[in-house]
Amino acid sequence: MTELVKISEANGVMEIVWNRPDKKNALSNAMYRTATAALARAVEDKSIRVVLLASEGDSFTSGNDLADFASAAMGGEAPAAHGFIEAIIQFPKPVVAAVPGLAVGVGTTMLLHCDLVFVANDANLTTPFVNLALVPEAASSMLMPARIGHVRSFAMFALGEALTGVQAAQLGLANAALAKEEVLAAARKAAATLAQRPIGAVMAAKKLMRDADILTHSRTEGAIFAERLRSAEAMEAFTAFQQKRAPDFSKL
Ligand code: COA
Repeated sequence: MTELVKISEANGVMEIVWNRPDKKNALSNAMYRTATAALARAVEDKSIRVVLLASEGDSFTSGNDLADFASAAMGGEAPAAHGFIEAIIQFPKPVVAAVPGLAVGVGTTMLLHCDLVFVANDANLTTPFVNLALVPEAASSMLMPARIGHVRSFAMFALGEALTGVQAAQLGLANAALAKEEVLAAARKAAATLAQRPIGAVMAAKKLMRDADILTHSRTEGAIFAERLRSAEAMEAFTAFQQKRAPDFSKL
């Protein structure tokens, strides 16, 4: 069976690669669990100094698998996104991301927990939580306004507005916007450079730069997110996606 998340390790860098290109790398519960376990191993393993998040195909990820959200909304397995989000929030070593195209929902919010981010010029970053009758997660309702300001963040969250890769770099969400075919190489080069740096100092610097409230804020969001997931509005959004039609919230 194809591995939906490819994990490899070389020269101090662990690569975690989303590998479900036919679904734009939508993240299923199983994929989150694989990535979360890899991060846990990377914390413990002294030979791993840097993590690189990347993807197969043109998309970084289309976000949480909406079939899994729909199943959770109907009382099925709780989304495994929660474990991944907490792992990346608390991850003590540097994380580099390579974003060649679409980054939807958690695909964008996980970038707020990466330390170096490389995007394609025409990447498309969106956080359309309200489109799905949900709320922002991964502490993004705190970190995004801090990074790019309230009004731009609100337009992203409440209206589903997108940022291009070029805009993301201008606004400080990414280090550089590059031609699509150069993104992975640039991220790998940065990861290799980081792996040569004194890891103790790098980790101490990262810790100093991370707000202690991030995890608390993410947990507050998570409680509201779980409530919203079970709402009639969210169910209408998930059903509409499955039926390939626009949602109709007017009667709810
Ligand atoms: N969950 C599950 N399946 C998804 C998905 C997701 N988040 N995103 C895309 N897919 C699937 C589609 O259902 C489609 O499957 P099919 O070929 O079996 O019909 C396939 O991936 C390709 O997606 P498609 O919608 O045809 O591509 P597109 O280029 O027209 O649109 C998106 C791409 C990402 C804009 C669109 O798929 C979308 O809006 N996805 C939902 C994104 C989302 O809301 N994520 C959660 C955020 S919190």
